[in-house]
Amino acid sequence: MRRNKVSVIGAGNVGATTAQRIAEAGLADVVLVDIVEGLPQGKALDLAEAAPVMGHDSTLTGTNDYADTAGSDIIVVTSGLARQPGMSRDDLLARNAGIVRSVVQAAVQHSPDCILVIVTNPLDAMCHVAIDASGFPRERVIGMAGVLDSARFRTFIAMELGVSVEDTHAFVLGGHGDTMVPLPRYSTVAGIPITELMTPERVQALVDRTASGGAEIVALLKAGSAYYAPAASTYEMVDSILRDRKRVLACAVLLQGEYGVDGLFVGVPVVLGRGGMERIIEIALTPEESAAFQRSSAAVRELVEKLRA
Ligand code: APR
Repeated sequence: MRRNKVSVIGAGNVGATTAQRIAEAGLADVVLVDIVEGLPQGKALDLAEAAPVMGHDSTLTGTNDYADTAGSDIIVVTSGLARQPGMSRDDLLARNAGIVRSVVQAAVQHSPDCILVIVTNPLDAMCHVAIDASGFPRERVIGMAGVLDSARFRTFIAMELGVSVEDTHAFVLGGHGDTMVPLPRYSTVAGIPITELMTPERVQALVDRTASGGAEIVALLKAGSAYYAPAASTYEMVDSILRDRKRVLACAVLLQGEYGVDGLFVGVPVVLGRGGMERIIEIALTPEESAAFQRSSAAVRELVEKLRA
C-alpha cells in the first residue's frame, strides 16, 4: 500500500512541530523543506531518531531541494517570517507574499495533484497568493486559521467554566485577525450555548481574548510567535484530509457567493476530506453577525488589494 506523503515547507517552529505531530501519529511520511541549508536536515534527523522511542514508522526527510517533495498528497506552507512584538500581521504582507509565491510555484511543479494547506500569515492574503501561484481549483487551497481561533476560544471557555475542553465547541467565522467573528450562540458546552452559561460581559471578554490570541502569545514570548496550537490545528486539517474523515472545521477558503462574498478567502465552516475542501456549510447570520462578517471580509479585501497594487 502506498503511504501518504506530506511535505512541510518551512522548518521553523510551526513547520517542525507540524511535522512531528504528523509523523508521530503515523499519518504520513514527512518531507521538511527550508531555504536554510542544514536546518531541515538536522530537524528531520532529530525527529527520525525519536521514532524508535515514540514507536512509529513514518520516514522524515530534510531537504533544500523540491525534487524530494515530488508526489506529495499535501503540501503545508509555513515558510515566512514570524510576527515580532509590535509587528502587525499586515507588516508581514509583502515579505511573506514573495516567499509564499516562490515556494508554492516550486512545490506544485513536483506535486501537481496535491492539496495546499496554507499557514503563513497574514493568512487570508497568503491563500490568495497561493491560489494564484498554483493555478489550483479552490477545493485544493485551504488556509489554517479558524481551527486555531476556535481552539483558542474553546480553551478560554473551558478555563472560564471549569469544564473539559473536550465538551466545548466553538464557531468562528471571518478573517484570521482582529476582525474575526466568533459566534457565541453556536459556541457550546455539551450542546448548551455559552450564552446560557455566562453573562454577556464574560462572553465578550472571551471573544476579545480570542481575537487577540496570537498577539497575547507574541507579547509573552517576546521573540517569535505561537506554534504549538498552530501546529496542532494544522495537524487536525491534514488528518481529516488524508483519512477522508469529513470533519467540519473552520478554514479559510475562496468564497464564490457563499455568505454574500465573492472572490475572497475568508474563514467559514467546511467539510474536509480526501478531495480537500469538499463543501462549504452556510448558515443564516443575524444582522449583527452578518455586519461583523462583512467587516471582517472588508479587512481581508483591503489586504488583497494592497497585494495587487
Ligand atoms: N523557502 C523556504 N523556507 C523559508 C523561506 C523560503 N523562501 N523563507 C523563509 N523560510 C523559512 C525560514 O528559514 C524559517 O525556518 O521559514 C521558516 C519560518 O520559521 P519560523 O521563523 O520559526 O516561523 P514560525 O513560527 O514557524 O511561523 C511560520 O506560520 O503561524 C505562521 O505567522 C506565522 O507566518 C508565520 C509562519
